[in-house]
Amino acid sequence: MLHWPWREDAPAMQLALAPRRRWPEPHAFMLVATPTDPNHPIHPPRSNALKTRITELFGIQHPIIQGGMHFVGLAELAAAVSNAGALGIITGLTQKTPELLAKEIARCRTMTDKPFGVNLTFLPTVTSPDYPGYIQAIVEGGVKVVETAGNNPQKWMPLLHEHGIKVIHKCTSVRHALKAEAIGCDAVSVDGFECGGHPGEDDVPNFILLPRAAEELKIPFVASGGMADGRSLVAALALGAEGMNMGTRFMATQEAPIHDKVKQAIVAASELDTRLVMRPLRNTERVLNNAAVERLIAKEKELGDKLKFEDIIEQVAGVYPRIMQNGDMDAGAWSCGMVAGLIRDVPTVKALVDRIMAEADALIEKRLASMLR
Ligand SMILES: Cc1cc2nc3c(=O)[nH]c(=O)nc-3n(C[C@H](O)[C@H](O)[C@H](O)COP(=O)(O)O)c2cc1C
Repeated sequence: MLHWPWREDAPAMQLALAPRRRWPEPHAFMLVATPTDPNHPIHPPRSNALKTRITELFGIQHPIIQGGMHFVGLAELAAAVSNAGALGIITGLTQKTPELLAKEIARCRTMTDKPFGVNLTFLPTVTSPDYPGYIQAIVEGGVKVVETAGNNPQKWMPLLHEHGIKVIHKCTSVRHALKAEAIGCDAVSVDGFECGGHPGEDDVPNFILLPRAAEELKIPFVASGGMADGRSLVAALALGAEGMNMGTRFMATQEAPIHDKVKQAIVAASELDTRLVMRPLRNTERVLNNAAVERLIAKEKELGDKLKFEDIIEQVAGVYPRIMQNGDMDAGAWSCGMVAGLIRDVPTVKALVDRIMAEADALIEKRLASMLR
């Protein structure tokens, strides 16, 4: 239900709105737009301006999630995001062992008393990481949200749910999102073709993918890929999502525990500066272009279908600590979204989240509302 209680023409507007609203799920989300004047007699706390099934599910103030990011999603960033009222996520596999993940979770607890999650990426490798150990660390650390990605998390769902852990699975297609729903995931993060990291192999951008997801899914979902500001959030909500997930945008923040050169590279990049690599291996990744990426692409062109992982190992294996920690910018390929073209500053996480919410609020209340006749 849209509320416009401060407008003189509120009843007329509500009547006018009612027949026009054609959300796939009428209850899908609730926007409570409220007056910006803090002295207004009916002014409720601004902090609860957007309430969706995602904010309810995860017990967070704002419908914004920070996606897991290798060598970026450490306790400092996750805690800053959660303290800002969104959902911070520690990247599980960046911690080399379950014991180290347990320490990282404990470290995060010293920095925030708000909910935060852990990303578990299920890799398609033969020798898999110690997933039971990582899950034990999550359970014992009292974490209540897990963001899964990569392979199907079905095997781990009973254990996670048994411990009251909510699961949000990252998907790049409607069919995978439906599968996630069928196996009992509580929510999905729908990652469009624009996204930094692994966009899958279907190449469907969010303007199509999100409304398609809204047509099919019953569980709530967040829009991921290309999200940067209040415009992204309002657009995501309009397309049927109940929040947004951001990766690249959160890298360019004061608290992101990465080298300043990485943040400056994102600020300097335009929307034309990312490249897709590893498509011949059906492991497509969107990365920021650099000298190593150009060598990698040249190798892909040269070898075509015959390309093997070993041919590009120098540009992709073990490069994250060198880039993120040492600022060795041409060490290899690192994930970055097209959204870099919208990122022009390195604010604190709180300033970023507050700005997004204020922008979203102004868009709904002023720009969009003023267009209604
Ligand atoms: C540097 C970087 C590392 C990432 N590492 C992971 C990861 O380890 N696991 C994962 O599920 N997603 C990973 N992602 C994807 C993000 O969680 C998120 O889905 C994506 O960044 C959203 O697109 P955006 O960058 O346009 O916001 C990574 C993204 C970036 C930019």
